[in-house]
Amino acid sequence: MTDQHARLERATQHLDSPVAVVDLAAYDANAADLERRAAGTPIRVASKSVRCRTLLDRVLDRPGWAGVLAFTLGEALWLAEEHEDVVVGYPSAERAALRALAADPVLLERVTLMVDSTESLDLVRAATAGAELPVRVCLDLDASLRLLAGRVHLGPRRSPVHDVAEAVALARAVVDDPAFLLAGLMAYEGQVAGLQDRGRGVLGALRGVAVRRVKALSVGELASRRAEVVAAVRAVADEAGLDLELVNGGGTGSLETTAAEPAVTEVAAGSGLLAPALFDGYDAFSPTPAAFFGLAVTRRPGPGLVTVAGGGWVASGPAGADRLPVPTYPAGLALLGAEGAGEVQTPLRGRAADGLALGGRVWFRHAKAGELGERVDVLHLVGGPGGDEVVDVVPTYRGEGRTFL
Ligand SMILES: Cc1ncc(COP(=O)(O)O)c(C=O)c1O
Repeated sequence: MTDQHARLERATQHLDSPVAVVDLAAYDANAADLERRAAGTPIRVASKSVRCRTLLDRVLDRPGWAGVLAFTLGEALWLAEEHEDVVVGYPSAERAALRALAADPVLLERVTLMVDSTESLDLVRAATAGAELPVRVCLDLDASLRLLAGRVHLGPRRSPVHDVAEAVALARAVVDDPAFLLAGLMAYEGQVAGLQDRGRGVLGALRGVAVRRVKALSVGELASRRAEVVAAVRAVADEAGLDLELVNGGGTGSLETTAAEPAVTEVAAGSGLLAPALFDGYDAFSPTPAAFFGLAVTRRPGPGLVTVAGGGWVASGPAGADRLPVPTYPAGLALLGAEGAGEVQTPLRGRAADGLALGGRVWFRHAKAGELGERVDVLHLVGGPGGDEVVDVVPTYRGEGRTFL
């Protein structure tokens, strides 16, 4: 039994399953490692990858972290009750929340919206008409790698704003309208930050060769394009007598390369704190798994098999084996190809099965970080002198009755 497994077992033996835990020693060590990788560039915490206010506050108490990258405006308004700097990382069409933002000068100073087109400006303008202060907006720049005159697009499909001219046109549309204040620019390079360098098995290793090439190409291309775009947008801001406050980029998977770009003033990260399974297999860092959920063994279909109650906490994204939860402790258990992670029960096969009693626990890692918080009301924080006590039980967003998407 590993030390972490033993500590989780000791800490939670009095609790029934399902139980979700965060190992605070691992969480704090991961925060420190993200700081090391950011090398002095401030980190804005990506709240979607945490979804628990206590854990967000814990990391924001550390030097090196500043501000929240929220995932909906409704969430941002809620967090802005306590936080002074909340950027919504994605465009919003939440009209009621936009009206609430417009009606509150404190929120207007604290919350920044993401826009990527004049169409999105129109939507915001219509919903926030009459606001006392201009609405703070951040331009979303497409960070994808385009090859063969745009016929090949490598990266997430997000903003249509890709080149200097498009960014300048949008920046001008913002500064020319007194309803808006141009606060910053963001470019998230998902094809670098969100892609594992090494996958599982031979195919994963082969794919890794291509992934590393694309990443290296993309990092170089984006560094020069981002620098040009930022300089041009800064010039538009200067002309309007404004200071472009923030240039945000990156994610857990790209902190060192994004932070190294002089044009970037801050990086974003969240997943690296909890270190879900999709963040294994990167060359530049190996975070310590910090979040687990424990499920109870409820039956034994045959030798070498056990079944746990629940388990189908499958992650979003392209459906595939890498979105499934990973049975982690005890080591030596695997999902069955024919059943995967089940709605109400999940059979597991492996050498550890026969050593588990009914009522015993199997610990899983979720493939993604924040989505665990949508499955449970509370997280048990494991810490204390021996790292083997539940030192706090804290609500997730869901536990606070807040589900945003
Ligand atoms: C805009 C943006 N920034 C940063 C991130 C990185 O978040 P994480 O560190 O959780 O991977 C994401 C993740 O999808 C994102 O959408």
